Amino acid sequence: MRIGVLGTGGVGRSIALGLTAQGHEATIGTRNVEALMARTEPDAMGNEPFGGWNEVNPQISVGTFAEAAAHGELVVNATNGMGSLEALRAAGKENLDGKVLIDISNPLDFSGGMPPPLFVSNTDSLGEQIQREFPEARVVKTLNTVASNLMVEPSLVADGDHTVLMSGDDQAAKAQVGEILRSFGWRHIVDLGDITTARGAEMYVALWVRLWQSLGTPILNVKVVQPES
Ligand SMILES: NC(=O)c1ccc[n+]([C@@H]2O[C@H](COP(=O)([O-])OP(=O)(O)OC[C@H]3O[C@@H](n4cnc5c(N)ncnc54)[C@H](OP(=O)(O)O)[C@@H]3O)[C@@H](O)[C@H]2O)c1
Repeated sequence: MRIGVLGTGGVGRSIALGLTAQGHEATIGTRNVEALMARTEPDAMGNEPFGGWNEVNPQISVGTFAEAAAHGELVVNATNGMGSLEALRAAGKENLDGKVLIDISNPLDFSGGMPPPLFVSNTDSLGEQIQREFPEARVVKTLNTVASNLMVEPSLVADGDHTVLMSGDDQAAKAQVGEILRSFGWRHIVDLGDITTARGAEMYVALWVRLWQSLGTPILNVKVVQPES
């Protein structure tokens, strides 16, 4: 399948690599291709400049947000939460309408340093804001609760026996996203319900950030357990 991955950070790179390893064709989207390729410093998360990464991963094409979204039969939002709506506007409603839109973004505000507060919570979520602004896109919030490398390789911890969450209004879209998650190795996928359930998944990230600080690594996850039936 052709997939447009909006976002050039650790998440966009990891998802694009994970998808191409499964035989999909990925185009990564950015605000400005020339500016992206001209960067020589690592990004805020310490990832090497994009150009060097792309040289060793030439199977991933690069374009603007609009070009990546137009390329995709399915689109992934892996942009900074503060800029996600702006990035999706640049991608273009016409390039999102009718498509499954996997939303991995988190509403984190890093402007005041660590730990970042959420800029939307409790009675709304970034996932809902995206679904409201792009009502014809079939938004599925998922993978936002784990680190970028764990997203596509859950077996990095506990043999992959831990939980990933999913929220969205469109059942068929969630079924398709579930298949992609299983192709990455996820076995325990909890469908929380409609897109309003993204509130919980996004607010959990406040705890995830604290776990990361406390344990000294972001390679961690939770497993939801229930009584044997
Ligand atoms: N890092 C993780 O392990 C992790 C885990 C779970 C969820 N997430 C979430 O996944 C998303 C991506 O995270 P990340 O760490 O890969 O990178 P990031 O630095 O949060 O995001 C990088 C991307 O956001 C775009 N961007 C930044 N500001 C923008 C603006 N004002 N308007 C439009 N686009 C803008 C950048 O565009 P350019 O390409 O033009 O620079 C770039 O493509 C975030 O929402 C994050 O909270 C991250």
